Amino acid sequence: MSPSATERGARDSLVRMTELVLPEDTNPKGSVFGGRVLALIDKCAAIVAMRHTRRDVVTVSVDSVVFLNKVRVGYVLMLRGRLNAVFGSSMEIEVDVRSEDPLTGDKKVTTRALVTMVAVDADGRPVKTPRLLLQDDDERARAERAAERRRARLAARPPHP
Ligand SMILES: CC(C)(COP(=O)(O)OP(=O)(O)OC[C@H]1O[C@@H](n2cnc3c(N)ncnc32)[C@H](O)[C@@H]1OP(=O)(O)O)[C@@H](O)C(=O)NCCC(=O)NCCS
Repeated sequence: MSPSATERGARDSLVRMTELVLPEDTNPKGSVFGGRVLALIDKCAAIVAMRHTRRDVVTVSVDSVVFLNKVRVGYVLMLRGRLNAVFGSSMEIEVDVRSEDPLTGDKKVTTRALVTMVAVDADGRPVKTPRLLLQDDDERARAERAAERRRARLAARPPHP
């Protein structure tokens, strides 16, 4: 796929990341810090956005994130990032996070995050992204829901300081 393509499919930018939870990622009780998971989510979303745009990107928003299950030291975190929709310079990326106890193979959902990334030029100014080629009904439905959420996000935007 050419770096200057005008449209790409969601499959072209899909990201899967796997991380082992180490003691430095956890509190004294051995549970992972939420901030560590958020940093992985941000990294995963940034890779999706860069693969789609072949540009530098910045995070402009992360929708509320709820942690559903404890992740303990020695567990494996599995992240999957995919592009839901592309707007002008911005795009919505969904990151699903699951944990696995490697000794039992037991897997649990940790969280799902919706991250908005903006493609920027060398001066940090927003630039238009390639279009997202929607290839099936699921992808079209995802894009529609993402567009609704974007309207809500922009309506709730605090005034610029
Ligand atoms: C993101 C940034 C480039 C936007 O710049 P800006 O001058 O406000 O530009 P705009 O108002 O034209 O917004 C650019 C895009 O961001 C979108 N956007 C802005 N605020 C948003 C928000 N709160 N939620 C979702 N999208 C938002 C706009 O809709 C626009 O998208 P579009 O081109 O698809 O329509 C700028 O605010 C910035 O650099 N912020 C810091 C980013 C950063 O450093 N992040 C790391 C953590 S600090």
